[in-house]
This record gives sequence, C-alpha cells and structure tokens, in this order.
Amino acid sequence: MGWPVMHSRSPALHNYFFKQYGLAGTYVPLAIAPDGLEAALRALAPLGFAGCNLTIPHKERALAIVDEVDSLARRIGAISCIVVRPDGSLWGTNNDVHGFARNTLQQQPDWRADAGPAAVIGAGGGARAVVYSLIDRGAREIRLTNRTRERAETLAREFGPAVHVVNWDDRDRALDGAAMLVNTTSQGMTGQPPLDLDLRALPADALVADIVYIPLETPLLAAARRRGNRTVDGLGMLLHQACIAWKLWFDLDPEVTPELRATIEATLPRT
Ligand SMILES: NC(=O)c1ccc[n+]([C@@H]2O[C@H](COP(=O)([O-])OP(=O)(O)OC[C@H]3O[C@@H](n4cnc5c(N)ncnc54)[C@H](OP(=O)(O)O)[C@@H]3O)[C@@H](O)[C@H]2O)c1
Repeated sequence: MGWPVMHSRSPALHNYFFKQYGLAGTYVPLAIAPDGLEAALRALAPLGFAGCNLTIPHKERALAIVDEVDSLARRIGAISCIVVRPDGSLWGTNNDVHGFARNTLQQQPDWRADAGPAAVIGAGGGARAVVYSLIDRGAREIRLTNRTRERAETLAREFGPAVHVVNWDDRDRALDGAAMLVNTTSQGMTGQPPLDLDLRALPADALVADIVYIPLETPLLAAARRRGNRTVDGLGMLLHQACIAWKLWFDLDPEVTPELRATIEATLPRT
C-alpha cells in the first residue's frame, strides 16, 4: 500500500517468488490515499491477504492502526511490513532496517558503520530505519539533516546522543570527514529533481548509499562514482526486506540471488 504506488517494483519482486515456489498467489499494488489507510488495513483479513508492505506515506501512521507492533518497529517509529494473523488481527514490523544493512554488506562487504561519521540526508520513514541500523551496528556520530529541521530533531531525541542535527543550509559541510553518506529523501527518484548536495567536502574514500532505487543509479550515485567514491544503490535494500517478509508471511526463506537482482534491474531505468 502506498500513495503513489504504481512505481513500486515490489509486485515484480514478490510475484517472482510466487513463481519460484510454485505458489498460487499474487502480490498487487494498492493505491491507498492517506485518509483511507485504516479502512484498507482492516480489509486485509476479510479479503484473504497474508499481509502487506507499506511505502510512502503510510509507514509512520500505520503504527497507530495495527493491533500489535514488535519492539523493533516501535523503536524505529515506522512499519514497513504487516502480517495478518489467523484471528484476523494485524501485526507490524520493520524490515527496512535489516534490508539496509544486508544490502550495504552485500555490495560493500568491508563496510563498517563505526568507521567514522555518517551523514544522513532526510528524516522520513526510510531515514528512521537507516539511522537505527547505523546505531545498531556501532555508529558513534550521525550527522542528520532534513529540509524540515523539526522532523530531524524529533528523530535525534528518539535515537539518542549519536545523532547530531545539522541545518539544511549547512548540509554540504556535514560531509566533511564523513566515512559514509546516505540519501534517504525522495530526491533523485524518477520524476523528482536531483538531491541538491555539493559533494566537494566528502572524502574520496567515503561510501555513498542511496535508498532510492528508481533509477538504479541516481544523480547522487552518478556524481559520487565520477569522483571515485564507492557506491551502494537502493535496489538491494528492497530485495532483502522482501525476503524477510516471505519468512514472516509464508515461513519461506528466499535469497537475493544474482538472477533475482537481474530480473528486477531489467525493469528499472538505469539513470
Ligand atoms: N530501497 C528501499 O527498500 C527503500 C525503503 C524505504 C524508502 N525508500 C525510498 O526512500 C525515499 C523516501 O521514502 P520515505 O518512506 O522515507 O518517505 P517519507 O517518510 O515521506 O520521507 C521523505 C523524505 O524526503 C524529504 N523530501 C521530500 N521532498 C523534498 C525536497 N523537495 N527537498 C528535500 N527533501 C525532500 C522529506 O523531507 P521533509 O521532512 O522536509 O518533507 C523527508 O525527509 C523514497 O524514494 C522511497 O521509495 C526505499
């Protein structure tokens, strides 16, 4: 469920798994306006769904709607995956956290979150998962900047002293000495302008990640690659969180194989 949702590659991805396992089922995009979220979630059980994923802008609001939330999603303040339990009640969790870490490690196996300061751009639902994941893996300094400063401050209060809020107008300077840069805003996504960020202060050995995956190489990743930084695209985060959902929905353990990645990559614009 998302608004908008038709850009999502999740249907292609989950329907690949249905085919792989020979299961009679389907994964459909549901365009749900924000004020229809509660009614839509309550309809999952009567319609016979095993569960659903949530994307923009539902991840935070769904937290107050479902019947039970695990401690991870509660801590993050956002739900990305819902399971419909046998009695029809709804259980929510957040798979983006592990999706981000597993993807970063798969693409850059020597990645360490405690290698130095991390600059995180954006403070929405995706940012919450990224910041949690970085702290969980030992990050000691996270420089967080968001167009709406208040939202970054809320996140800093919730996640503790490792998170330092940087003014949006000072975001270029937040890159000075950083070991990692992560874009969690929607900027750079197809149909949106590129993220307005000057990379000059970013060290050449810093890792640059973007959680946007349409296009696969965002303008930010292209600029980082051109100046010699190692990069991590956002597609693997989507693939890894989907595998976790299958464990929760069907007790199956699909893997992120090169064939799966190639299948979904083929549906994406490259730039
Ligand atoms: N790869 C994956 O698996 C994965 C997982 C989650 C999300 N994503 C992607 O990440 C992006 C964000 O998703 P989300 O769920 O975090 O969305 P969200 O909760 O709606 O947050 C959107 C973020 O983008 C910022 N933003 C929007 N327009 C902006 C602009 N014109 N200039 C600067 N900042 C702007 C917002 O800042 P304000 O607070 O100022 O509005 C906020 O920080 C989406 O493209 C989504 O597809 C990918």
